[in-house]
Amino acid sequence: MTTHPPRRGVRRAVFPIAFAGLVTPLVVVAAPANAAAADCSDVSAYPWTDTSKTPDERAHALLEASTQHQKYRWLVEQPANSPEQTEFSGVTYPVQVPCTPTVVYTDGPDGVRFTPGVTAFPAPISVASTWDEQLTYDRSAAVAAEAFATGKNVVLGPGLASGRTPLSGRTAEYFGEDPLLTGVLAAATVNGLQESGDGERAVLANLKHYVGNEQELDRQLSSSDIDERTRRQIYDLPFEITMDRSDPASVMCSYNQIDDVYGCENPLLDDVLRDDLGFDGYVLSDFGAVHSTAPSLDAGLDQELNRPVFFTPELLDQALAAGEVTQEQIDQAAFRVVRTYLAGGLFDHPLPTTPVADAATPEHEALARRVAAEGSVLLANDGVLPLAPTAGDTIALIGPTASSTPTDGISAASVCSMAWRFNDAGTMECEDLVSPETAIRERAAQDGATVTYSDGSDVTAAAAAAAQADVAVVFGYQRSGEFSDLPDLRLQGDGDALIEVVAAANPDTVVVLQTGSAVEMPWVDDARAVLETWYAGEQMGPATADLLFGDVNPSGRLPMTFPVSLADTPTAASPERYPGTFADGSTTRPEGSTEIRQVEYSEGLQVGYRWYEAQDIEPLFAFGHGLSYTDFEYDKVKVTPASTKEGQEVRIRFRLTNTGDRVGTETAQAYVTLPDSAGEPFRRLVGWEQVTLQPGEHRKVEITLTAEDLRLAQYWDESTDSWQTPRGTYQVHVGGSVEATAGTTFRVR
Ligand code: BGC
Repeated sequence: MTTHPPRRGVRRAVFPIAFAGLVTPLVVVAAPANAAAADCSDVSAYPWTDTSKTPDERAHALLEASTQHQKYRWLVEQPANSPEQTEFSGVTYPVQVPCTPTVVYTDGPDGVRFTPGVTAFPAPISVASTWDEQLTYDRSAAVAAEAFATGKNVVLGPGLASGRTPLSGRTAEYFGEDPLLTGVLAAATVNGLQESGDGERAVLANLKHYVGNEQELDRQLSSSDIDERTRRQIYDLPFEITMDRSDPASVMCSYNQIDDVYGCENPLLDDVLRDDLGFDGYVLSDFGAVHSTAPSLDAGLDQELNRPVFFTPELLDQALAAGEVTQEQIDQAAFRVVRTYLAGGLFDHPLPTTPVADAATPEHEALARRVAAEGSVLLANDGVLPLAPTAGDTIALIGPTASSTPTDGISAASVCSMAWRFNDAGTMECEDLVSPETAIRERAAQDGATVTYSDGSDVTAAAAAAAQADVAVVFGYQRSGEFSDLPDLRLQGDGDALIEVVAAANPDTVVVLQTGSAVEMPWVDDARAVLETWYAGEQMGPATADLLFGDVNPSGRLPMTFPVSLADTPTAASPERYPGTFADGSTTRPEGSTEIRQVEYSEGLQVGYRWYEAQDIEPLFAFGHGLSYTDFEYDKVKVTPASTKEGQEVRIRFRLTNTGDRVGTETAQAYVTLPDSAGEPFRRLVGWEQVTLQPGEHRKVEITLTAEDLRLAQYWDESTDSWQTPRGTYQVHVGGSVEATAGTTFRVR
């Protein structure tokens, strides 16, 4: 297991949502916001400003000084976060007690969205492909700095899902299909957001969406029906691991129902999220995901996102009078919000009086380039890469997303960040975008080579350009986003046809993909190399050039399986699994109906790479796969002790050698298969180590499984409602993907 990024000092915090114009408009004030008439340094008058007290003491003091309706303010985003405003969509509150902060929420997982003057970092799926905790931490620390500087102190991210279907519109917003990889990188994201400010700022993270929010289609009118073992091991586990390694301020409950109960009024909030997974911040709803007053509060929801709808003073008063909720429950919800804001530092580190117009820095730009390069995955290469042109050579760039000049509305900007909606503009402004065309022209000139560009709209012209060049680099894209799923796993804009024509015209064709999820590659055998760069952010051009020319040796690894075809995916053969069905058995929502679509998670644990192994289906590119310009070899695999007792530490040791002729970084992965009695005939990722080796160098690598490494050798036993470590023989495999062949075994007695 890689080491934790630094967690310095006490967690500090920071914010109304600035979200696509739908949430509270950004109000920037000298803080504390309602300090105008109050001397907030008078700790005897306002004991919640007393930094010598604990957050719990301060929160209790604040609530003791509050009226009932001042307490209610904390239960809804807008009144909680704009303390002096009294009207919210026609609902009236008293002014908040003095000396509480202005809080501004912003989406989200991919950076500071819809905001000029910030760095457009690569999308989370690219971050996941780095498998690098420290880099993930650094990226999110940079996001926190830019958020705070531009007047936002809660980032609604990171997002977690389990990658049940690559059709999910938000795949690019998450970290792939493995609970451990997702949990480790989500925790690094939370820590980077919350702990990186060195006392200079306070920013809070939000973990979303709990739970089973695996599709956009009918996300507000569907039920994710999941058996308990599957939920614990596949869907809860990323949250559990994140919680174990970080301290997220809030968790967002999801739109969907889980087993027929809406996420934001589901007993899982208290019974599992808090009691079992150890969450102690506040539960925040998704936008419009609340469906009730008393049942939601009773289940453990603390704050309604955006404006008051179900947590209005009127409805809360009525629920109290009817005995449907208790005063204690209201106090508890308010307490959780206030204590979290205090513990996270929002009260003590107010937002800047004037947000900066440009928060991007050269360091952040360099970091964006690094993440884009290290998050790109070289899927195939028969030796055509790295490019080594000689003077006078020509490189043909083909496809609209290679260039910053739009062709029929499509350009590099279309794939800089994930789309807001399917096939729509992106979530990030990407003002400083450097296109592949610009960067590759510049880099090729250093070698005396020239670059031609063809936008691909005329395939005959594209083929002619390819034929005339020494090498053709063709760009294929797919734009995905929130609100709907992908219709298929094909490239958009007739990308497959374009690639086929180009590859037919020039045998030395390299394909660069800019997608948010897996795509089918019917042309894969005709391309000499395939580089997946995802939504690589503003530095996509320089990062792509770095990799194509070998200035950076590729090291990214797939955080999700690329199937040969959509038909091979775990949910494909069953409409009950996806998209889910209605009572009459159909998959199409009856006109005007609000019936809940039932989505059966009957593939169970066989999500992602587990499915392909269990079903013996060969993927196009396996989970964990990624090539380098050098080669690595694994041998001498040993587990010590070879026989152990439950709960004891096990060390997986092996030798890793760089057998090629370039320095390179390998992500050495360890997988374990549980004894047969667990009923899981497939591997699970239990750790990885990133090792940089010189040509010919070898190193002993050790990956340790300890009791602290959550659930890595356990399964959920429904008959005893507990985690079990099965006795028997465990198989271990180490290598460069889930298809690793070097292995050994150990026994648990
Ligand atoms: C999304 C959330 C997001 C919220 C507020 C919703 O549509 O599902 O992830 O945080 O909007 O922007």
